[in-house]
Amino acid sequence: MKNFIVTVIALTVVAGSAHASATPLQNLPPGPFGQSVQRGYDTIMNTTTDPESKGNVGNGLTCNSCHTDGGNNDHPGNLLKTATKFPSFSPREGAVITLEDRIANCFMRSMNGMRPSTDSKLVVDMTAYISWLDQGKAILAPASAAEPSPFPAMLKAATHADVVAGTAVYKTDCAACHGAQGAGIPGTFPPVWGPNSYNAGAGLANVPKLAEWVKGNMPLGNAHLSDKDAFDVALYIDTQPRPDFVLTQHLPAGMPPDDYNASVRTETDSVASNLKKPGLSLSALLGTAP
Ligand code: HEC
Ligand code: HEC
Repeated sequence: MKNFIVTVIALTVVAGSAHASATPLQNLPPGPFGQSVQRGYDTIMNTTTDPESKGNVGNGLTCNSCHTDGGNNDHPGNLLKTATKFPSFSPREGAVITLEDRIANCFMRSMNGMRPSTDSKLVVDMTAYISWLDQGKAILAPASAAEPSPFPAMLKAATHADVVAGTAVYKTDCAACHGAQGAGIPGTFPPVWGPNSYNAGAGLANVPKLAEWVKGNMPLGNAHLSDKDAFDVALYIDTQPRPDFVLTQHLPAGMPPDDYNASVRTETDSVASNLKKPGLSLSALLGTAP
């Protein structure tokens, strides 16, 4: 059943469309729960245009831009075994968070938008879809630790030469779809930097996470980059301009404090501050330091 969904989506991608309308899911349970799963899937595929979700989006991305095939594949960023992992402790928020919280957090960061209420129909529908993907799976909470990755060590040692190498990878393997200036083509190819991209507080604004994600997902349908090329192109993308993240600007006015499940209440990230954490200088990486 899920193979059918993946096939339909794969055909859509081959046809070069960016999933203008979501596919009806197969074998849904009848009644309100199945309808909620379908709505959740639709908003994950068409987040920027669906009336239920578009008010909480501040850029040109959909959830599906990063959770490819609606999260129903084995690529980095997939949404399988996701529902089984929550509640779990999130160091970023300094709190034990639910799947609903995790979804609302992606709205503030990856989607550069306003945090929806975790009780909203929007978040409940998305939760229903993500939980439905895991039907029959064992609950893993608490989740096990992440796999070891080569990319954090590569970041610590990064230099201007790596950014230059990443520029070349980008031109060869990425620019045809995402554009020479990273702006993509609205509605077809998502932007990878600039004002319509994910903000500096998003997971992909972290170079090792972007490298891991790119290695398993891009170029679309033909992921083949070596660790070194994936790292360099991720470093290049995450040294380009994108919106800062100021946490308080993504919490709706008048929201009761309990609605944001976090002990961390102030956070500001920029491209430069993200690189400063592992001891790097943005201007040195870009070769513009005096
Ligand atoms: C710019 C890329 C991007 C976009 C857009 C995005 N996400 Fe994510 N999301 C990620 C990445 C990367 C991770 C893993 C993050 C990490 O390790 O910090 C993630 C993690 C998650 C998780 C936790 C997955 C797990 O198994 O732990 C959920 C749930 C999620 N996203 C939901 C959403 C939803 C819903 C949307 C749309 C409202 C969305 N995301 C939009 C990149 C994105
Ligand atoms: C054939 C066109 C194509 C090529 C080539 C391509 N991408 Fe993508 N990329 C896409 C599409 C389409 C999406 C959205 C996912 C989807 O619709 O399945 C995407 C999504 C992304 C995203 C997450 C969403 C965002 O905009 O932030 C990043 C990051 C990304 N690509 C980086 C790259 C990198 C790096 C390369 C080169 C190594 C690359 N892409 C090559 C088409 C392409």
